[in-house]
Amino acid sequence: MRLLVTGGAGFIGANFVQQTVRERPDVTVTVLDALTYAGDEASLAPVADAVTFVRGDVADADVVDPLVRDADVVVHFAAESHNDNSLSDPWPFVRTNVVGTYTLLEAVRRHGTRYHHISTDEVYGDLELDDPAKFTPTTPYNPSSPYSSTKASSDLLVRAWARSFGVAATISNCSNNYGPYQHVEKFIPRQVTNVIDGVRPKLYGSGANVRDWIHVEDHNAAVWAIVERGRIGETYLIGADGEVDNRTVVETVLELMGRPRDAYDLVADRPGHDLRYAIDASRTREELGWTPRYRSFREGLAATIAWYQENEAWWRPRKAATEARYAQLGR
Ligand code: NAD
Ligand code: DAU
Repeated sequence: MRLLVTGGAGFIGANFVQQTVRERPDVTVTVLDALTYAGDEASLAPVADAVTFVRGDVADADVVDPLVRDADVVVHFAAESHNDNSLSDPWPFVRTNVVGTYTLLEAVRRHGTRYHHISTDEVYGDLELDDPAKFTPTTPYNPSSPYSSTKASSDLLVRAWARSFGVAATISNCSNNYGPYQHVEKFIPRQVTNVIDGVRPKLYGSGANVRDWIHVEDHNAAVWAIVERGRIGETYLIGADGEVDNRTVVETVLELMGRPRDAYDLVADRPGHDLRYAIDASRTREELGWTPRYRSFREGLAATIAWYQENEAWWRPRKAATEARYAQLGR
C-alpha cells in the first residue's frame, strides 16, 4: 500500500507514521506537511529513513495533485488544531482546514484515491456536566469555536464529495488525545512542562470542564481499523470512555510529579469554553472489533509525564514562545 499522510509531522500524525512503520512493513509512507509552528520533523526522526517527507501546503493543488495520484490511500491529519489560537486569528483555520480539505477532496476525486478524514468530537458542540448523553454518529453538528466550526465545515465537504461524486471516503471524530510528541501549547504537555520548570499549572475558569481522554496510540489503531475495514461513506467515533474534569487532570499531574495536589492557579477562562465532551464509540468497537489498549488514564499519564521528562530537547525550543503567547492572553 502507498500511503500519503498529511500533517505527519504533528502530534497525532507523527505517532501514526511511527506506528505504521513499526507495525506494517508492507506500507510505503509519504508525509506531506507544511511544518507550521506545530510541525516538527524531529517527531519523525526514529523512522526518517523509512519515510519520504515532502514539505508543502495541503491547500496548494500543484503540490497535492501528484502526491495523491501516486497514493492508494490518503489519511488527512493536517490542520490548525488549537482552539485558543483560533480565537486570536481564525483565518489560518479557514484556509488549512476548509480550503486544504477541499483541495485534497478534488485530488482524490480526480484520481479515485481512498480517503480517510481525521476529525474531532468538537464538531458536536458540548454537553452539560450532568447529561447522561454522549456523542453518537447521528448527533447534530453544533460547533462552538472557529477551530471546531472549520473542522465541521471540512467534515461536511467530505460527506458531500462522497455522496455527490462517489469519493471513497470515511470520517473519524475522536476525543482529546494525549501521549508523546504533543505540542506544549496543549493542556497536558503545558502543565507537565510547567511543573518541570517550577511554574504552577494554570486551569481555565473553575477547572470543572470535562474532556474524554484517549491515548494517541489507541486513536491511531482505530484509524487503521477504519482504513482497512470501515464502510465507505460512514462516520466512526473514537473514544476510550476516559472522561476526566480538568481539575482532576492537573491534580493527578501534580501528584505523579511529587508536588502538592493543590499547587495550581485558576486563570481567565477561554471564551465560549466547551463544558464537556463524551464519546459513544460503540459502532467503532462493535463493527470493527477495535478496543483501546490503554485502560488506565493514570498509567498513560504517568508514561506521558516520563516521556516529557526524558525528551526535554524535543519540547524546550517551543516552550518560551508558547508561554509568551499565553501571557498576552492573560492565561
Ligand atoms: P498538530 O497541530 O499537532 O499537527 C498539525 C500538523 O499539520 C502539523 O505538523 C502542521 O505543520 C501541519 N499543517 C498545518 N497546516 C498545514 C498545511 N496548510 N499544509 C500541510 N500541513 C499543515 O495537530 P494534532 O493534534 O496532531 O491533530 C491532527 C488532526 O487530528 C487534526 O485534524 C485535528 O483536528 C484532529 N484531532 C485532534 C485531536 C487532539 O486531541 N489533538 C483530537 C481529535 C482530532
Ligand atoms: O476534543 C478534541 C479536541 O481536543 C481536538 O479537536 C483539538 O485539536 C485539541 O486541541 C483538543 O481541544 P481542547 O480545546 O479540548 O484541548 P486543549 O488541550 O487546548 O484544552 C483541554 C482542556 O484544558 C480545555 O477544557 C481547556 C483546558 N486548559 C487548557 C490549557 C492549554 C486549561 O485549563 N489550561 C490550559 O493551560
